[in-house]
Amino acid sequence: MAHHSLLVLNGPNLSRLGRREPGVYGTMTLDDINKGLETCFKDVNFDFFQSEFEGSLIEKLYECEDRGGYIGSVLNAGALTHYSIALRDAISAVQMPVIEVHLSNIHAREPFRHTSVLAPVCAGVIAGFGADSYRLGVDALLQRIMA
Ligand code: DQA
Repeated sequence: MAHHSLLVLNGPNLSRLGRREPGVYGTMTLDDINKGLETCFKDVNFDFFQSEFEGSLIEKLYECEDRGGYIGSVLNAGALTHYSIALRDAISAVQMPVIEVHLSNIHAREPFRHTSVLAPVCAGVIAGFGADSYRLGVDALLQRIMA
């Protein structure tokens, strides 16, 4: 299979995975998750980026779009999922497909997490499978290019 670039974008507080509410988010760190993706998908060129800042995530999305060659992005926007119209507009502005992922099942949690302002402009949403949500997201992007 050819090498494809894929952006794995993580938003606020995902830097704390492993020690942040492990009962909700598990004990794997973000680095563990990223390394797991590299092990699982040897033919994908991963570009991993995490930021606590909305604007940095938007800049990264545009940087990858402008560089070209990306088959898409797997995005866990954290709490920005629920209110960032700026991130939503950035997803709308790029050509590359974005898959929204969440470790937890946001629909089984507090009501304010049931709404995603990003979902309508994403190619799809995967939630509730822990670290596997990322793997499923990557798989979905690979399926799209093979379709
Ligand atoms: C999350 C769910 C969000 O509601 C929360 O703000 C997060 C993590 C998840 O992966 O389950 O930071 O995106």
